[in-house]
Amino acid sequence: MSTSTPDQELKDRHRALWSLGDYPAVAAEVIAETGQVLVDAARIRPGETVLDVAAGSGNASIPAAIAGASVVASDLTPSLLEAGRARAEGLDLDLTWREADAEALPFDDASFDVAISCVGIMFAPHHQDAADELVRVVRPGGRIALLSWTPTGFIGKMLGTMRPFIPPPPPGTQPPPLWGDEEHVRTLLGDRVKDVHAERRTLRVERFADGRAFLDFFKTTYGPTIMAYRAVADNPQREAELDQTVVRLADEYAPEPGVLEWEYLLMTATRA
Ligand SMILES: C[S@@+](CC[C@H](N)C(=O)[O-])C[C@H]1O[C@@H](n2cnc3c(N)ncnc32)[C@H](O)[C@@H]1O
Repeated sequence: MSTSTPDQELKDRHRALWSLGDYPAVAAEVIAETGQVLVDAARIRPGETVLDVAAGSGNASIPAAIAGASVVASDLTPSLLEAGRARAEGLDLDLTWREADAEALPFDDASFDVAISCVGIMFAPHHQDAADELVRVVRPGGRIALLSWTPTGFIGKMLGTMRPFIPPPPPGTQPPPLWGDEEHVRTLLGDRVKDVHAERRTLRVERFADGRAFLDFFKTTYGPTIMAYRAVADNPQREAELDQTVVRLADEYAPEPGVLEWEYLLMTATRA
């Protein structure tokens, strides 16, 4: 008899999703700039203790450790942590890799100076639980810095566009791009933080000639996209529809040939 709870099954599915393809290639070849942007926004100083939530292969953890911090890179997906560990090998950084669910962090209250998450915590399905954990592990006076795709930017729109093609998520879960909505995040963090600053910025992606090239890459590297294509694999017409929808959308976010612009929300706050 299986003893796993529905939440464990959901997390198992998410772990499997993020193990698909080659997410470390997405982080390194497409969005690498975001990790450094987040570390700069968090004003990370040498000697500080930093938790990176949903760190993946270390897109933000590695720059944070290079800035001189003592960093714990935590993530649900062990294969991504492994990829990060391999990437950081030989760099002589104070960096540890720890499997952890953002909604149940295995760390004491107030045990970090800073918590960061780069397009990471947004993928934990229960937003309030994840926000509560984030706040809990930061010491009073410590800092929180988050970088999340906005609902109106390209990745937010793409996730929404793919939704009708995949089986519906379980009740009680919330869509990731809501973390890119300033008011939503202010509500999640509540009066447990002060000095909240939010700014929308755009990542300029020059990795793809056009929307089609973007899709070809994401179809083989990015878990959520791979999963959507698996869901339509036995229906060529739906697959063609999904191709067309994503390419058209990607091209809408191309202000000039060879450039895609993806909006994100950068938020910083101090733990009250
Ligand atoms: C888009 S990736 C971002 C990874 C990394 N922060 C970066 O900037 O490249 C999303 C990450 O969220 C992680 N993730 C999803 N659900 C999670 C959860 N409940 N707890 C912890 N990590 C989670 C995935 O394993 C994946 O590494």
